[in-house]
Amino acid sequence: AQALTVLGLESSCDESAAAIVRRNADGRIEVLADCVLGQEDAHAPYGGVVPEIAARAHAEAMDHLARRALAESGLVLDDMDAIAATSGPGLVGGVMAALMTAKGLALGAGKPLIAVNHLEGHALSPRLSGALVFPYLLLLVSGGHTQLLAARGVGDYQRLGSTLDDAAGEAFDKTAKVMGLGFPGGPALERCAKDGDASRFELPHPLAGRPGCDFSFAGLKTAARQIWDGLDTPTDKDRADLAAGVQAAIARSLAERSGRAMAQFAGEFGPGSHTFVVAGGVAANTAVRTALEAEAAEHGFTLSAPPMKWCTDNAAMIALAGVERLARGDTDGLDAPARARWPL
Ligand code: KG4
Ligand code: ZN
Repeated sequence: AQALTVLGLESSCDESAAAIVRRNADGRIEVLADCVLGQEDAHAPYGGVVPEIAARAHAEAMDHLARRALAESGLVLDDMDAIAATSGPGLVGGVMAALMTAKGLALGAGKPLIAVNHLEGHALSPRLSGALVFPYLLLLVSGGHTQLLAARGVGDYQRLGSTLDDAAGEAFDKTAKVMGLGFPGGPALERCAKDGDASRFELPHPLAGRPGCDFSFAGLKTAARQIWDGLDTPTDKDRADLAAGVQAAIARSLAERSGRAMAQFAGEFGPGSHTFVVAGGVAANTAVRTALEAEAAEHGFTLSAPPMKWCTDNAAMIALAGVERLARGDTDGLDAPARARWPL
């Protein structure tokens, strides 16, 4: 195989990003540039991502980031074999920023365009850090997604389960907001939970024991809000105990549902040592990781997580998906649409 080099752009949530990834002739993956610009400060006053603010910030940042990625790699646009961009799913105003920039660059430089599914980027992200052989089981837990996927090969993903309502990160963020802990809520709630007693408040076990591998977090979020509203003047101890309880409940649910997926995966691909990859911002949570590690060990799986910078939204995973798609001759026309919803 010949070496392939792709510029990837990402703007589907609140991270603007550009990266350049090369797949060498021997198959080795190299990240030649990896630029990310977060928008946390712009959204913090509102306690959540504001789509219009996100879209404008992406539109302002995108061309600068593309130029910075090229400078970082020491390459020029003409060295690229294709231009890739996330074209969904996500906040569609934001998605358009990366997609339109990619279309402009592809058109101007006469390069193919690759419209990437953001979820495929996440599914392939563990392969940025080294050889990870297919098949593997992936849990994607972020602010926007909670899904279990069997990755059987490039372009070949089987969805084993996904959330019926909120994403796990949303449950963290919304509960943290109710408790006045600030934005982004996940890390704030984890800090608050540090010395809390997770067993003090009784919280539901969503879907526990039910068949399948779907998730549900809306009931948990509502239960936490009711407990919070029932506290007269919450003390620091109340706050810590509730935060710890919610965190433990989310971790328990993620582990229980993942355990079911591991059993299903082993049933399909045979016993033996499989890899269970966890990606997405929520994977940063220590209680979540500990619960997943224990569950994986119980099922004979090895837990692996990409480094945090590739676990959260980034463009390297989009460029990698672009490389893999290009290698199969799978490119898109300039009419590729931005999509708010796009199941993998
Ligand atoms: O993958 P990500 O950076 O962005 C997308 O949502 O695509 O994930 C962000 C989510 C947010 O909901 C954030 O609160 C959550 O990940 N998160 C955490 C922690 N760090 C980030 N949740 C719990 N504990 C954490 N330490
Ligand atoms: Zn994402």
